[in-house]
Amino acid sequence: MPLMRSTTEAHPATFPLRLQAIGTADAPYRPMLALAELPEGTMRRVTIGELDVLLVNTDRGVFATDDRCPHMSAPLSIGVLEGCVVACPLHEGQFDLCSGDVVRMPTTGGLDPDGEYHPTWSPAGKEPKVDPPGKKAEARRLTRVRRFRYYPVRISGGRIEVVIPAPEE
Ligand code: FES
Repeated sequence: MPLMRSTTEAHPATFPLRLQAIGTADAPYRPMLALAELPEGTMRRVTIGELDVLLVNTDRGVFATDDRCPHMSAPLSIGVLEGCVVACPLHEGQFDLCSGDVVRMPTTGGLDPDGEYHPTWSPAGKEPKVDPPGKKAEARRLTRVRRFRYYPVRISGGRIEVVIPAPEE
């Protein structure tokens, strides 16, 4: 029988330190959500001021990042989560929360985080999209998918707390 994990076992996930969000080094933790509201295998958007934060509870721990796809900013909170990989609802892009990297480039192609170009592609069973030359095609070609940026997380008293950068004065 598989072991059941309870939400009380949840812990902050580790992420590549170079990908910690700017402005979080000296900012305080803020309460975001009761841990019970984020069972393992789920994601939620929590909005603080102008910032939409994506909270994700995986078997590798709880992540906090922007609720904006690293490609063209669609809300990942309505995408699909499998393990540590989030699939975007817009262009079939897939992104790994554990590494911050791209797992599958969007159908629109473009530049990966290292600046390498990838062509457009179509999901199996769909007609290839014709991409007539012009500004839109150029914009897609030059759009660089970035890596996730992470907000530090801690679990305290059954609550998920996250370091959010202070708003600019
Ligand atoms: S906006 Fe997410 S893959 Fe394009």
